[in-house]
Parts: sequence; C-alpha cells; structure tokens
Amino acid sequence: MKKQCVLVSGGAGYIGSHTTVELIEAGYDVVIVDNLSNSEIGAVESVRRITGVDIPFEQVDCCDREAFRKVFEKYEFDSVIHFAASKAVGESVQKPLLYYGNNLTSFMNVVGLMHEFGRQNVVFSSSCTVYGEPDKQPVTEQTPRKPATSPYGNTKQTCEDILRDTLKAYPEMKGIALRYFNPIGAHPSAQIGELPRGVPQNLVPYVTQTAAGLRECLSIFGDDYPTPDGSCIRDYIDVTDLAKAHVAAIGRMVGDKNKENYEIFNIGTGRGVSVLELVNKFEEVNGVKVNHKIAPRREGDIIAIWADPSLANNELGWKAERTLDETLKSAWEWEKHLRGIK
Ligand code: UFG
Repeated sequence: MKKQCVLVSGGAGYIGSHTTVELIEAGYDVVIVDNLSNSEIGAVESVRRITGVDIPFEQVDCCDREAFRKVFEKYEFDSVIHFAASKAVGESVQKPLLYYGNNLTSFMNVVGLMHEFGRQNVVFSSSCTVYGEPDKQPVTEQTPRKPATSPYGNTKQTCEDILRDTLKAYPEMKGIALRYFNPIGAHPSAQIGELPRGVPQNLVPYVTQTAAGLRECLSIFGDDYPTPDGSCIRDYIDVTDLAKAHVAAIGRMVGDKNKENYEIFNIGTGRGVSVLELVNKFEEVNGVKVNHKIAPRREGDIIAIWADPSLANNELGWKAERTLDETLKSAWEWEKHLRGIK
C-alpha cells in the first residue's frame, strides 16, 4: 500500500521538527515547507539524521500563494499539519499587521489550496491562549473562549473560526484544532529542540540559558499571585508527547475515526505546575544552579491554566507520557548540546 503523505508547514521549527520525526517513525511520508524566517535548515538536517530519511524540503513562504501552489502541484499529500506562524505574544502587540498578515494569510492559503486540490485533512496549531484567564480549572474544550488579549491570540481564535466555517461549507474536508498548553523539552536524542533567537521570552529556554551561563539571572515574573506559592501556574507538555498528538490526529482522520469533520482537542498533561516549582525541579533533576530573583509581574500573564485532557485521552487515544523530570532533563541535554557543555 502507498504510504500516506503529510505536508508539514513550519517543519523546521520547534514543534514542527519534532512532529516530523514522529510522523516518519509512525510510517508516514513527509514534505517539509518552511520559509526559515524563524528557524534553521540545520533542524531539517537533524531530522533527516534522526530518521534516516531524506525528507523533501521546500523553502517556501506559505503566504506566497503561487509558490505554495507549486508545492501542491509537485507532491501528492493528503494531509497538512500547519505550524508555520509567528508566535511571540509581546511582538504581536508591537507588530499587529505582521501577525495578522502572516498568520491569517498563510492559513487561508493552506485551506484554500487544500480545497482547490482536493486534499482532505488538516491539523491546525491552536493554543490554550484562546481560553484567556479561565474562571474554572482545569479547562475543557467546552470552557468558553475569552476575548483575545493580543493580536497573536486573536489570530489563533480567528484561524479556528476560519477552519470551523470552511469545514461546514466543505463537508468532504476534515480538520482538527489542537489547543496546546505550554510545550517544553527536546527530543531524547538532543539533536533537535527549541532554538530561540535573541533573548528567550519563554520560561524554559531562559532557565536553560541561565544554567548554561548565557544569562545572568532568571526573573520570576511575580510571586504575589493568588496561587499556593504566589507564582503563575501552567500545564507544561513535553514536545515529543505533543508531536505524538499530531500523529494521533492525522491517524484519526485518515482512519475515518473522527465523529465530526471539525474537532478540537486540548493537548496538555492535566497537571498544573508553578514557575517556582518548575525552576526548583529543573535544578534538582539536573544538579545545576539557576540564578533567579523575584521580579514584577509581566503584563498580560494569565494567573493559572491547566488542561483537562480527557477528550484527547479517550478519543485520540493519546496521553502525555513523559514525566516532568524527563522533560526537564531533555531541555538541559539540548542546551548542553548547543553550547558544547559536557
Ligand atoms: N516566566 C518567568 N520568567 C521568564 C519567562 C516566563 O517568570 O523569564 C513565567 C511567565 O510569567 C509565566 C510562565 O513563566 O507565568 C510561562 O511563561 P512562558 O512565556 O513560557 O509561556 P506563556 O504561558 O506566557 O505563553 C505560552 C506560549 C504562547 C501561548 C501561551 C498560551 O509562549 O505562545 O502559552 O497561554 F499563547
């Protein structure tokens, strides 16, 4: 039987590269499309090394519809996983037009070209950011979405709406939106991982760079929140586990196991961890020191959010498997690999 082929947009990026590895290991063919605007070709080379497969790569901007159309003409994939997007919350406030332009145009092109070429299945990278500050924990897929607090968050909500409406109009197509909680960690091989450009904005890359001596001191943004230790709470999901959720989503659509042609799943562990707990755990499992100090709250931060992942557990047959200890070890192994630390 011919192998199913999946187009992975943003496949050179953090989550895209890990997902490509898992797709290949699950027996799929993959075509990677990436404009390398916030990623490196080295990640594609590492994915080829890990899998032993010479995965085709097209350096194309998904916003360039004509260039993207040529990829649809060239390859016979049935499914698309769309990661390609701008993802920094703070930057989106400074450059809203860039975010609306990139994230909406590329997604419109994905679904538009899929419809034009009769390609069936799409997975969209959504985010728990669509829930805003939830009134009740943990959040289920039924928890109401709150008005977005950043252009980035707004693009996630709008793309979900575009997908919902498109799939209603075209019942021959299928789609799944995965609402990720906080992805962290790296591949067990330490060959791929998160590669932030400049000063990291997210917690774990800042922690690993501080441990590696690249940053002097981690600021913990707020210790006076109404949480047990005063710091914010998140649901940190291992990136390899998250990658496997995409394989499960594709398998569900390819295998005709989906109940509706548009479905939404929370992808988290179900466990809330505070910033202070995470930093202490990182120090403990890796036996390294992370200089840190308490700093003022960061504007726009959600106090606490964690997932109820039972829908994904039951319907996708997917569950987060790696422990927080393993994940934090993998994050440190990756940082050491990058910096040549023994
Ligand atoms: N934090 C610090 N110090 C830092 C960086 C972060 O204390 O140097 C804290 C934040 O205040 C927050 C927690 O660590 O409490 C996690 O922050 P991240 O920036 O790592 O992640 P966020 O939860 O803010 O954002 C992430 C993704 C977004 C996504 C959002 C959804 O980066 O893309 O989750 O809630 F939209």
